[in-house]
Amino acid sequence: MRIRKAVFPVAGLGTRFLPATKASAKEMLPVVDKPLIQYAVSEAISAGAEELVFITGRSKNSIMDHFDKAYELETELEQRGKEELLKIVQEILPPGITCIFIRQAEALGLGHAVLCAWPAVGDEDFFVILADDLIDGKLRPCLAQMHRVYQEYGTSVLACERVPHSEIGSYGVVDLKPVGPGLGEIKGIV
Ligand code: UTP
Repeated sequence: MRIRKAVFPVAGLGTRFLPATKASAKEMLPVVDKPLIQYAVSEAISAGAEELVFITGRSKNSIMDHFDKAYELETELEQRGKEELLKIVQEILPPGITCIFIRQAEALGLGHAVLCAWPAVGDEDFFVILADDLIDGKLRPCLAQMHRVYQEYGTSVLACERVPHSEIGSYGVVDLKPVGPGLGEIKGIV
């Protein structure tokens, strides 16, 4: 029940972050010292993913560059003896991890973005991670918790968050039948 593929839909227009996202990717906005997408990628790799599938759109080339080998930069850092910085750059994508980039030509929504991953994912089970939602999993990362539920129940797993009643209109909402602590079976989408 190992999941080897992780899909990152990163083709959204990011209108809520304008003007920061007019020409730059929302997922490249830094939180402390790393871009958001790097947190998501690290979480997927620690949960066992080896193949990362990015669904990209316009203004998202920086995401591709971020996970590409930066040959000139690495050579320069090596020549200057900046070993710690070199290590930071090289650890962005650990050995054995591959990246696939698929272009979503039009921002037709999250569901469509996930569907664009089909040629790379096929019939395998896979993770989907929205990098713009940085989740503090407290004791263990959210994706690892979801993976555990998947291994126990063998079904699709969706991470949900409680929101104040006044904000409910801004979200997709699910109707849950509780089945355990923090765990529910989805009865319907409201
Ligand atoms: P959001 O709902 O946050 O949409 O997408 P958005 O376009 O990024 O931002 P706003 O609403 O305009 O401010 C959730 C995730 O789905 C991706 C986004 O990149 C984000 O990671 N997405 C959304 C796509 O990949 N393609 C789409 O057509 C829409």
